[in-house]
Amino acid sequence: VRLGILGSGRGSNFAAILDAIATGRLSASISVVLSDREDARILELARSAKIPTVVLPKGRYRTWLEPHIEEELARSLRRFGVDLVVLAGFLRVLKGPLLAAYPGKILNIHPSLLPAFKGKEAWKQALEAGVAETGCTVHWVEPEVDSGPILGQARVPIRPGDTPESLHARIQEAEHRLYPEVIQRLIEQKLWREIH
Ligand code: GRF
Repeated sequence: VRLGILGSGRGSNFAAILDAIATGRLSASISVVLSDREDARILELARSAKIPTVVLPKGRYRTWLEPHIEEELARSLRRFGVDLVVLAGFLRVLKGPLLAAYPGKILNIHPSLLPAFKGKEAWKQALEAGVAETGCTVHWVEPEVDSGPILGQARVPIRPGDTPESLHARIQEAEHRLYPEVIQRLIEQKLWREIH
């Protein structure tokens, strides 16, 4: 199974997936890493791992991609033979062309126990709400943001004295375990072919 990874930032989830492949916990390969930000660290990490990279045009909007750019993104994924699309800190909302090109084959990870705390800085939302625990969720991507069917979750305790940074770091550790596990389970069960 060939993965295509989309990210805008640090790429720690990408690094965790790469490590899972290298250590035999995930039977997949990464065909390409795409980013909407040419200075994103995820691209540096991909280049040092000798994985092809694609930088998307910025377009006119900050939070989503114009349809022609999203089409270009879908074409790049096809060109690299991608079977399953993995969003790992990709900060643009997908509006349609990519969802149409890869229906039911796009995964995302979100830093909360969905459906709680959708949207931005979910760890901060959890801290402000005063809940005892939060976590992370891997889900299928659907047109409505942070709402697709849930594939796996990991719980993370909130400790006294936690700051947004300390909590986010603890959630990220859980993400790095959860994401490769869920992808491996999907591959073993060929879930995306049967359900979607
Ligand atoms: C993660 O916390 C993920 O939940 C969110 O974006 C962040 C990406 O981090 N969707 P990284 O770029 O993988 O380090």
